[in-house]
Amino acid sequence: MFKQLFATKSVQPTGHVDAGEPFEGSLEGEPTLKRTLTGTQLIMLGIGAVIGAGIFVLTGQAAAEYAGPAVMLSFVFAGIACAFAGLCYAEFAAMLPVSGSAYSYSYATLGEGVAWFIGWCLVLEYLFAASTVAVGWSGYLNAFLDNFGAALPNALAQAPYVYEGGKFVATGEIINLPAVLIIAAVSAVGYAGITQSAFVNSIIVAVKVAVIVLFIGFGLQYVDPSNWQPFIPANEGGTRYGMEGVIRASAVVFFAYIGFDAVSTAAGEAKNPQRDMPIGILGSLAVCTLLYILMSAVLTGMMPYALLGTAEPVSTALNNYPALGWLQTLVEIAAIAGLASVILVMLMAQPRIFYSMSQDGLLPKLFAKVHPKHRTPHVGTVIVGVVAAVLAGLLPVGFLGDIVSMGTLLAFAVVSLGVLVLRYTRPGLSRPFRVPFFLLICPLGFLSCMYLFWQVFREHWHLLIGWIAIGAVVYALYGYRHSKLRNGNG
Ligand code: ALA
Repeated sequence: MFKQLFATKSVQPTGHVDAGEPFEGSLEGEPTLKRTLTGTQLIMLGIGAVIGAGIFVLTGQAAAEYAGPAVMLSFVFAGIACAFAGLCYAEFAAMLPVSGSAYSYSYATLGEGVAWFIGWCLVLEYLFAASTVAVGWSGYLNAFLDNFGAALPNALAQAPYVYEGGKFVATGEIINLPAVLIIAAVSAVGYAGITQSAFVNSIIVAVKVAVIVLFIGFGLQYVDPSNWQPFIPANEGGTRYGMEGVIRASAVVFFAYIGFDAVSTAAGEAKNPQRDMPIGILGSLAVCTLLYILMSAVLTGMMPYALLGTAEPVSTALNNYPALGWLQTLVEIAAIAGLASVILVMLMAQPRIFYSMSQDGLLPKLFAKVHPKHRTPHVGTVIVGVVAAVLAGLLPVGFLGDIVSMGTLLAFAVVSLGVLVLRYTRPGLSRPFRVPFFLLICPLGFLSCMYLFWQVFREHWHLLIGWIAIGAVVYALYGYRHSKLRNGNG
């Protein structure tokens, strides 16, 4: 049993893959995923997945409740942890251009048990994050419609259950319809094809980045430097302000960075993954880090931090300046579009992870089916879409934000460790991209992600332990028995 848990899947040196070549490991005689994405499209996918609820919603709360103006420092800290992890992802994704991302990397280095565990954590990152962001999207849309007196009634725009005192309590509402509809719409795009998904994503990314740049440019003129004083407000107990608060806020705004790693799940559909994976992962991370630091600086400069703890802090800051009313409307549109692209990329990533897990026998075969015409993992896309829609439509998934971050941080930590392990176990593998100073960067990546993980885990450990326990049961009942590696076909 233990031997099986630590059995690793051998890493085959990958020859140069090119556009039009079949995807590695496809089921015999089955259609394969389509290699079509360019470096620029991969950067756009990364930005599409990253910029969303984190910057448009959480930044204000992180400033108001934990860090004050030093939330910009929190963005720097979280960005550094992500940069370490991003470098490690880049090495793996160029070396192993398959769609399983951290799941496949763990399988190759730390064994089937860890791989399953990480694959299970990635469900938190992608599927649950999509539902969480869809609920945020619904809130933003309804607030926007309200400007025109066209808001949906609560019965159709709020969860029918809330989670209180450890159990679900009925609210009397019927369904969060906009959240369901946005998931259905982006799932349809994901089903239709990778080219269509990348196209829709690129348009949205262009809009949201343009609006953020406008916000930074115009907002800067209204910055009052006295709002940045004191930069780190004195600690008021616990993690409210002080350096403790800055660190806690790093774990909160970490959510804003989640998604650059989703680029690696498109490795099977990249034209030239060996060259373009590092470009996509590190390029999108660099752009987002820069925008986040500037945006949080402008936001906290425009308004006293204590007033930013609203559901739409960017809009709140602009509300103070009638001359920027036009920008406020643009920001609301950008947030609505921007959150949609996060959902799109997350819902593209999840079926691709399942695709890899299914190819290894750890999930049923239907997840590895590829549509003959659209060349997408269509069955997985539909199943993931339905589950995400049910979660978003019925449950108050807002409380899942922290568990999403925990799952992601664990995946990042394991990937950082995996790079180090593979450098020793398979030193001769072709590595088109190498983490510089890996003896320093890999351990720092592991430690910084585990440190941020700990900030959240000590508060919400029961959620994660519960999720892991469910995963262990699923593995024992299905994956363990059907594993191809265990049955000698891996
Ligand atoms: N980074 C993504 C967001 O902030 C998950 O919405």
